[in-house]
Amino acid sequence: MAKIFLITSYKGGVGKSTVAANVANKLAKTGKKVLLCDLDFDLGTLDLLLGCEDRMLFDVCDAAFGRAAAEDCTVRLGQGKNLGFLGAPYKCTDEIVPEDFAKRLKELSSGYDYVILDTPGGETVTLQAARLCADEAIVVATQNPASIRGAEKTAAELAEKGLSSRLIINCFDAQSAENSSRAGILSMIDSTKTPLLGVIPYDRVMMFAQEKGVLAEGDAFVSSQAFENVVSRIEAGLSGRRPVPVLYKVKGIRRKKVLTK
Ligand SMILES: Nc1ncnc2c1ncn2[C@@H]1O[C@H](COP(=O)(O)OP(=O)(O)O)[C@@H](O)[C@H]1O
Ligand SMILES: [Mg+2]
Repeated sequence: MAKIFLITSYKGGVGKSTVAANVANKLAKTGKKVLLCDLDFDLGTLDLLLGCEDRMLFDVCDAAFGRAAAEDCTVRLGQGKNLGFLGAPYKCTDEIVPEDFAKRLKELSSGYDYVILDTPGGETVTLQAARLCADEAIVVATQNPASIRGAEKTAAELAEKGLSSRLIINCFDAQSAENSSRAGILSMIDSTKTPLLGVIPYDRVMMFAQEKGVLAEGDAFVSSQAFENVVSRIEAGLSGRRPVPVLYKVKGIRRKKVLTK
């Protein structure tokens, strides 16, 4: 049985799709069979992030509504071809009933170890469907106060629906946490009341690489190791309530201050 992760946040533009694509890629690199699914039917862009827009002949709705075989709709990526990708329709004309769509997503998950569902910001039918079939949510937030409030609200609503969440702090700028101009890691855990899955630093190289459909791989990307750390924690099945230690180092930054401020 696949473990299904829902990637969510209240706010748009916090890096959900970036996190979804890179976590899926790094999970696949460990040899696991991974399905990444773009459920942003307003403006799905994961195909661009993965650099596979020319290979996307069918989409997740074609697979879910049986218009084409699931295998034909799935773009195979990575060296071992063990990262499967189901893209979002350019324009969705199907009526999405969350309960039915959730059932189809579960069926499409068969044969995979992990499924990553990327959802849009706000309340949509695809988010409702994803909530119904996910085993766990990953809530993404940046140090932006509006994003932190959105993450808290999202995690609380998911908990009410019986779904547990872990937090990924994205675009983290340690300098601003150290000089107290923006939220630090512990204060974000406190504010969102959500255990930490990982911290992804702000990565200028990745931002530009994304425009060419290149994911964070190797030392040129400061976020690459951070995504690997997230995957290690997912693989280890860390589900504790204690915040997970931050494993990446920032030169010249006092770690304690970054954490506590
Ligand atoms: N860790 C990061 N470092 C630098 N830029 C990032 C990072 N994560 C996301 N971005 C940039 O932020 C923008 C929004 O990211 P995206 O993943 O599309 O957000 P969402 O899916 O939440 O709308 C993109 O331009 C992306 O390149
Ligand atoms: Mg997105």
